Amino acid sequence: MKLLIKTGKELTDSEFEQITQAHLREFKEGPSNKSDLGDNHFFLLKAGEKILAAGILISVQPVNFNKEIFSILGIGGIIANERGKGYGKKIMLAVRKYLAKKNISGVGFCGEYNSDFYQKCGFQTDRDSIRRFIYYENGKRIENKSDDFVLYWNSSDNFMKKVLANKKTDIILPRPPNW
Ligand SMILES: CC(C)(COP(=O)(O)OP(=O)(O)OC[C@H]1O[C@@H](n2cnc3c(N)ncnc32)[C@H](O)[C@@H]1OP(=O)(O)O)[C@@H](O)C(=O)NCCC(=O)NCCS
Repeated sequence: MKLLIKTGKELTDSEFEQITQAHLREFKEGPSNKSDLGDNHFFLLKAGEKILAAGILISVQPVNFNKEIFSILGIGGIIANERGKGYGKKIMLAVRKYLAKKNISGVGFCGEYNSDFYQKCGFQTDRDSIRRFIYYENGKRIENKSDDFVLYWNSSDNFMKKVLANKKTDIILPRPPNW
C-alpha cells in the first residue's frame, strides 16, 4: 500500500478514471476532464494500480472574513472505495499532516453522519456555521442552505477559530462551497 500526493495534471488516465467512477457513485457527479482538476492536490491510497481511497485539497482564495483575507484549502472528495478498513482515515491523516506542514487552514463540508469519522481523524466539526459560508453571483448573495457540518483544521491563521468566535459575520467565498 502506498500513499501518493499529486496534482490533477499529474494523474494517470487510470487514476482519473477510478476517481471519476468513485465520485459518480458517491456524489452523483464527477469531474468532466482532467484539465478541470488542474492544480488541486490529490491524496491517493493505492495497492498496485487500484485506488483504495482518495481525497482532494482545493485552493480557495481569497476568503474574506471580518475585514481579513484568508487563503484556505478546501477538503473534498473523501472516498474510501472499500469502507471500514481504515483507508479513509489514512487519507485524512495524510491531509492533516500536509495542512500542518504547509500551515494552511483546511475546511470541508460533511453530512452529520460523517462528523464522527472526521473527529476520529483529528479534525474538528461545527454544526452551525455552514449558512454563513456565502458567495456572490452576479451581485446576488448566495447562501448554503444545507444542514451539513463544517469540518476543519486550524492553522496558525486560526481561520475557523475566528469564524466561530464571531457568529454574526459572513464568510465570503470566491466560489460556491461545493468542493
Ligand atoms: C466517510 C468515509 C470516507 C470513511 O472511510 P472509511 O475508510 O470507511 O473509514 P475508516 O475505516 O478509515 O474509519 C476510521 C474511523 O472512523 C470510524 N468511522 C468511519 N465512518 C464513520 C461514520 N460515518 N460515522 C462514525 N464513525 C465512522 C471508524 O469506525 C473508524 O473508527 P476507529 O478509528 O475508532 O476504528 C467512507 O465511509 C466513504 O467513502 N463514504 C462515502 C463517501 C462520503 O460520504 N465521503 C465523505 C464526504 S464529506
